[in-house]
Amino acid sequence: MMGEINASTRLCAVLGWPIHHSASPAMHNAAIEHLGLNWRYVAFATRPEELSDTIRGAKTARMVGLNLTVPHKLLALDLVDVVDETARRWGAVNTILFEALSSEGKWLPLRDVPAENALQLRSVGYNTDADAIVRSIQEDLAFTLRGSSVLLLGAGGAGRAAALRLAAEGVEKLFLVNRTMAKCEELAAFIRADFPACNVVVGYPKGRVGLVLNATSAGLKPADPLPFERTEFDFVSADAAYDMIYRPARTRFLEAAAEAGLRNANGLGMLLYQGAKAFEIWSGMIAPVEVMRQALLKQIYGSSNPPM
Ligand code: ATR
Repeated sequence: MMGEINASTRLCAVLGWPIHHSASPAMHNAAIEHLGLNWRYVAFATRPEELSDTIRGAKTARMVGLNLTVPHKLLALDLVDVVDETARRWGAVNTILFEALSSEGKWLPLRDVPAENALQLRSVGYNTDADAIVRSIQEDLAFTLRGSSVLLLGAGGAGRAAALRLAAEGVEKLFLVNRTMAKCEELAAFIRADFPACNVVVGYPKGRVGLVLNATSAGLKPADPLPFERTEFDFVSADAAYDMIYRPARTRFLEAAAEAGLRNANGLGMLLYQGAKAFEIWSGMIAPVEVMRQALLKQIYGSSNPPM
């Protein structure tokens, strides 16, 4: 049971537009309850033009921190007082920690400072999404990225972040495919400059790959096409498949991968691990990952045993 709300209760929130489908409140409140913190995590519907005011307002209200989701992650880079290395490196902010200047001149997380002692405040922007992709692929799919070959589908915001993070993780050969192929060239040039050890190829692989990864939004709606050309690639040429989409639990992409006998996983783990890391940044505690996973499964699929 959650403790009662009182004058010491601290708040976290997720900001997005739209936001009513977010599973983050369920995941974080489960962790808060499990650890007995006097916190609550809520969701604020925030339009892009309101983002600056909302971040500043949350800081002034001495909230613990924020998560940001679509469409705010890029905008927030310019709106936080300090950009953490993770946000700078991966080019987006999905987590904000509020800090107060202590009497010793040290910046402390607001969780450690009584509200009336928090006079000078700042917001620090982090990125916990990029590491979550890698953790989910490695833990949920049991796939080793270092030295592997990957076909990455998608060169939008999610695809770009995934491509950079996979290159940083030591993927040896990275094939980039997108409905609008021209976007892949630009992304490829960017990766080659930053990660020369990664062999980036724009287009479909001729031989086998270890992993095929869907980072497009194709599959969110039942009528969506597969995110690649069937004539150019067949699942039997891969060992494993990962879909960043988690709702629906089984996209056409994952169904077809499973039919071809591939190990496969959906994006629930990514959502979980980005949340777990955000929770650790705010709380300074180890996130109760399994408690958070169960809360997500229940919230999103209405069951702890979804058709995965
Ligand atoms: P996100 O932040 O989720 O990556 P985005 O930046 O809008 O969102 O990118 C959406 C991605 O899904 C793009 O790679 C897009 O392809 P285009 O660059 O050609 O637009 C891809 N996408 C969306 N709908 C698709 C579809 N029906 N088939 C294939 N790819 C699709």
